[in-house]
Amino acid sequence: MNVFATEAGTDLYEHATTLGKAHIASMFKQNPNRFEDFSYSLPGLMLDLSKQRITSETLNLLCALAREKQLDQWINDLLTGEKINESENRPALHTALRTPADQTLEVDGVNIIGQVHENLARMERLVNQIHAGQWLGCTGDPIDTIVNIGVGGSDLGPFMACKALGEFTTTNSRDIELHFVSSMDGSHISSLLDKLDPTRTLFVISSKSFTTIDTLANAETAKEWLKRAYQYEGTDEALILARHFIGVSATPQRMIDWGIPENNHLYFWDWTGGRYSMWSTIGLPIALRIGMQGFREMLAGAHVMDSHFRDTPFERNVPVLLALTGIWNINFLGITAHAILPYDGRLSHLPSYLEQLEMESNGKNTTRSHELVGYNTCPVLWGEIGTNAQHAFYQLLHQGTIPVMCDFITCAVRYEGPNNTDLKRQHQLNLSNCLAQSQILALGDTVIEGADKAPAYKRYRGNQPCTTLLLDKLTPHTFGMLIALYEHKVFVQSVIWNINPFDQWGVELGKTIATGLLPALTGEADNPSLDSSTRGLIHHINTKR
Ligand code: F6P
Repeated sequence: MNVFATEAGTDLYEHATTLGKAHIASMFKQNPNRFEDFSYSLPGLMLDLSKQRITSETLNLLCALAREKQLDQWINDLLTGEKINESENRPALHTALRTPADQTLEVDGVNIIGQVHENLARMERLVNQIHAGQWLGCTGDPIDTIVNIGVGGSDLGPFMACKALGEFTTTNSRDIELHFVSSMDGSHISSLLDKLDPTRTLFVISSKSFTTIDTLANAETAKEWLKRAYQYEGTDEALILARHFIGVSATPQRMIDWGIPENNHLYFWDWTGGRYSMWSTIGLPIALRIGMQGFREMLAGAHVMDSHFRDTPFERNVPVLLALTGIWNINFLGITAHAILPYDGRLSHLPSYLEQLEMESNGKNTTRSHELVGYNTCPVLWGEIGTNAQHAFYQLLHQGTIPVMCDFITCAVRYEGPNNTDLKRQHQLNLSNCLAQSQILALGDTVIEGADKAPAYKRYRGNQPCTTLLLDKLTPHTFGMLIALYEHKVFVQSVIWNINPFDQWGVELGKTIATGLLPALTGEADNPSLDSSTRGLIHHINTKR
């Protein structure tokens, strides 16, 4: 099955036979207006594709390919709640979570926008209560420490956003200490609990399914810690659960079964994919960090991107163009590694967020009609704060043997205000590094004279395609735009590849097998049918205990 065996696909293969050999540096020489030709602006955000190995013809052919794949129809189906997550028989409606209250969208006869805003209002009451110091622990002390327990989509989005938007705290949210616990092995929670005051700590158990063992194991440890702390005061478990636990889930009954009373529930819906859920009540930590107004600004920014995605011709559509240049790199230039390089320490968790968003969505080898794909899909994605990565893996980007496409993400303005001279200078230094690196990666050492006379080990071959995403400033609004941009990019690529980006069957088997191995590790049962490696490792572990 080859989705590129079409007219536009064939033209693109043909086009790649010539352009595949071209060097980005010579493309800049041939066309001094590349920046004007290949950069796209929206209020607050700009996408520069001029350092990609593309010409106008490339983009025309890629847009033709998108039309062949009926991308318009798919975008419409996504936004209107068609059941495009076929293997789970449901829509993927994360865009509804940021749709303004005056709009409607019916799913199975229910206006879900109304429901979304009711839930936001419920979350707002809770956030205000905590910020006002009115949520009291068992001893009557106000809660001032929140621990979010979740993993994957129930952790990465809020964790990233709280780090990115930390400076947008409000007067009330400033006094709240926020922690994130996700690791199954207990490393996060064990080191944290020693430092916390149980009388002032509230645990938010975030899990769409409320069955994820990582989260439930950490939640259980937290509950036992509180029970031990309160034991001598004779506080009963129901009170501990009512005062010190909030549940956020799409499965209310499981929260009740675990012991969280209904008053402490926040809901979302099965049509919100885990990795698309930070816009829902899973975003509670974000709202606790930056206040509800900030949270709503983030939603509004994402909605601006949704509208742009829906209404703009492919030729100027920022998520579509970002996706299509990725398709060009992956499927026509053979590039299967993708580095995410934020030049902004506040975006330090963006790479791990995008690892899940992109690789859990599009890391698939079967089409929507269950055939094996005959082409590459999602590349390997990784990243790090750009300037830190310069001192770590940039050696490979510059002089290694594999082609890598790179996203540079930064903001033009930072540290406004009169007393920030030193920090402003640091920001400029950071920007000069961001621009220098993308320049060398794309153009190679042609950027300095006489480089061709240097020995091979000092040469920089360049020709690594680079994208720059430049925010005017990092605010809740532009941050919302940025994340929605990547969500839509992932969707567009899934349409071209004819795969379902909203399921994740590849993570299931590991859960089943791990459950089966547990008795052998606890010594409750032997499993002679295991392969010799797994059996040998279990034996070795057990002899060490
Ligand atoms: O195992 C993968 C996964 O299902 C992700 O898709 C999801 O984001 C994560 O686990 C957490 O799931 P839940 O929110 O149901 O605990």
